[in-house]
Amino acid sequence: MCNALLKTKSEHFFCSFAIHQTRIVMLTRIKELQQEIEEIAAKSLEEAEELRIKYLSKKGEISKLFEEFRNVSADHKKEIGQAVNTLKEFAVGKINMLKEGLTEQKSSGSGVDLTLPGEPMKLGTRHPISIVRNEILDIFKRLGFVVSEGPEIEDDWHVFSALNFPEDHPARDMQDTFFIQRNPDVLLRTHTSSVQVHDMETQKPPIRTVSPGRVFRNEAISYRAHCMFHQIEGLYIDENVSFADLKQTLLYYARELFGGNAEIRMRPSYFPFTEPSAEVDVSCTICGGKGCNVCKYTGWLEILGCGMVDPNVLEASGIDSKKYTGYAFGMGIERIAMLKFGVNDLRLYFENDIRFLQQFESAN
Ligand code: DAH
Repeated sequence: MCNALLKTKSEHFFCSFAIHQTRIVMLTRIKELQQEIEEIAAKSLEEAEELRIKYLSKKGEISKLFEEFRNVSADHKKEIGQAVNTLKEFAVGKINMLKEGLTEQKSSGSGVDLTLPGEPMKLGTRHPISIVRNEILDIFKRLGFVVSEGPEIEDDWHVFSALNFPEDHPARDMQDTFFIQRNPDVLLRTHTSSVQVHDMETQKPPIRTVSPGRVFRNEAISYRAHCMFHQIEGLYIDENVSFADLKQTLLYYARELFGGNAEIRMRPSYFPFTEPSAEVDVSCTICGGKGCNVCKYTGWLEILGCGMVDPNVLEASGIDSKKYTGYAFGMGIERIAMLKFGVNDLRLYFENDIRFLQQFESAN
């Protein structure tokens, strides 16, 4: 070791040479041992113990390094000390791992215990919107409706014009949409009513369809509105279909969905594609009609829009409006799901938060 008593230049030279030499020798040895330990393997616990003795016992290779550490100059102590400690931790970890592996194997023979129960597989759950959609579709299927689906990307004709929205008519403002292309217009459908146009163009009455699907609107996202949501459209066209048929069908639907005591009421409304048109409310599912904060003390909750298909709409799709009449209705699935499950923020449906989705495990 160098100290202040060293007199000559050459003494100093050899001394600092020796300091560097110690550092290099130690680092090289650490590296060698690191590589060696990386490759060690043991076939039995005894072999693993031998390895522990070789590297970690008092006279082991790593302990020797600790002894050697005394000769490291103060300048290099930190660097070498860290390297030796890291090596030791690595060796302890590696040998423990070998021992654990061998102990497990010993207790289970082949290393796999075939008698242990399997890891339970976590099944996903249906999304609440799918649960409610299926439930609604099932109700209408029992009444003889068939499910028909249509494209999400549409032309102006199927979303607006064929449904009696004249160009520049303010009713188009009710459904502000996303255009993919102008002239000719290609757009995301704003409602599933577009599917009834496809059905009327391709089928002959009697037509009895329910059409579920995604729809898009240029809306600011909030707890009650989204730019993407789901609807179900219903359509029934035949000879002598009347408003009374519509009303009875919807009453049956409401009672199947919300329980046998549910009542409905119809309020006059306006849709370009139906005449007359109505908005339908169901008696509040929470208070049964007495009045609470969910129904805002009215006793009623709005669930859908409906009406008798406007003769212009039948004619636009080539159906004789003198011979046939029909009714149509449309509803938002999110809204119904919110009422059924007591969810108060529509955005929850689209955030994929497992904590929310898991709550519907038992619903289906
Ligand atoms: N398409 C309407 C909407 O998205 C809902 C609707 C209302 C559909 C009345 C209908 C209907 O078929 O008759 O707001």
